[in-house]
Amino acid sequence: MKILGILGSPHKSGGTAQLLFAALKSAEKEGAVVKWVSLYDGEIKPCVGCIQNEGPECKFPCIFEDYGKIVLEKIYEAEGIIFATPIYWFAPSGVMKNLLDRMTCLENMVAFGEQSYLEGKVVGAVVVGADTGAITTGGYLLTTLNSMGAIVPPWAIAYSYKSKASIWEDKDLMNAINVGLLVAKTIALLKGELRELKFIDDKALLEEIREEVLRDLELSREIKRYVRGLGWLRF
Ligand SMILES: Cc1cc2nc3c(=O)[nH]c(=O)nc-3n(C[C@H](O)[C@H](O)[C@H](O)COP(=O)(O)O)c2cc1C
Repeated sequence: MKILGILGSPHKSGGTAQLLFAALKSAEKEGAVVKWVSLYDGEIKPCVGCIQNEGPECKFPCIFEDYGKIVLEKIYEAEGIIFATPIYWFAPSGVMKNLLDRMTCLENMVAFGEQSYLEGKVVGAVVVGADTGAITTGGYLLTTLNSMGAIVPPWAIAYSYKSKASIWEDKDLMNAINVGLLVAKTIALLKGELRELKFIDDKALLEEIREEVLRDLELSREIKRYVRGLGWLRF
């Protein structure tokens, strides 16, 4: 089973990344092959609403030849997708909103006699802020994705207001772990495998995943320091 993580934060070791990586690691433990993309690694042009034009423009993989198209293709290939965003004014980050709008081309395949290309895909959400707005943000994400045909499992949203320290908040981390587990388990269930869709509260798993995420983040910090030292590549 293929699960894609989408990071909608500019910070690759911030709270959003921390909880997304925790969710992906737990999905891996459930047998998933995981990949992730950062929405800040290229340009995602805003949707121009070509769905209203006469011609058949609004169809997968979108009219634009940009980084957004690459992300859309990865979404198309995935069976499960975990959307992770910081809270920007009680809402997903701008790049995440651009991506959601561009995903209309996947959903609009219904206008071409097909099903929505989101149908049957399982989604989860990770939302991180410093103050408030997690439910407007996460609720918006999951409602929109469900309106596009995606399946939302139980316990499919994790949020934290601990910003960069999210990884240290046991409750928030455990919720993120459950997002990964339940997205993976739901995919397995849809394939006819026997799975229980239950919340897990497992302290040993929590510590194991926290350690793995911290190790990965530390490694990326070391690479950054090394590259900065070389002075030719900036992060
Ligand atoms: C433009 C902007 C708007 C923000 N709005 C909110 C908000 O409405 N609610 C909130 O809790 N935090 C808000 N924050 C704080 C961020 O969500 C917080 O710093 C979060 O940790 C960012 O996640 P990251 O470190 O993974 O990038 C905002 C930050 C920025 C830059």
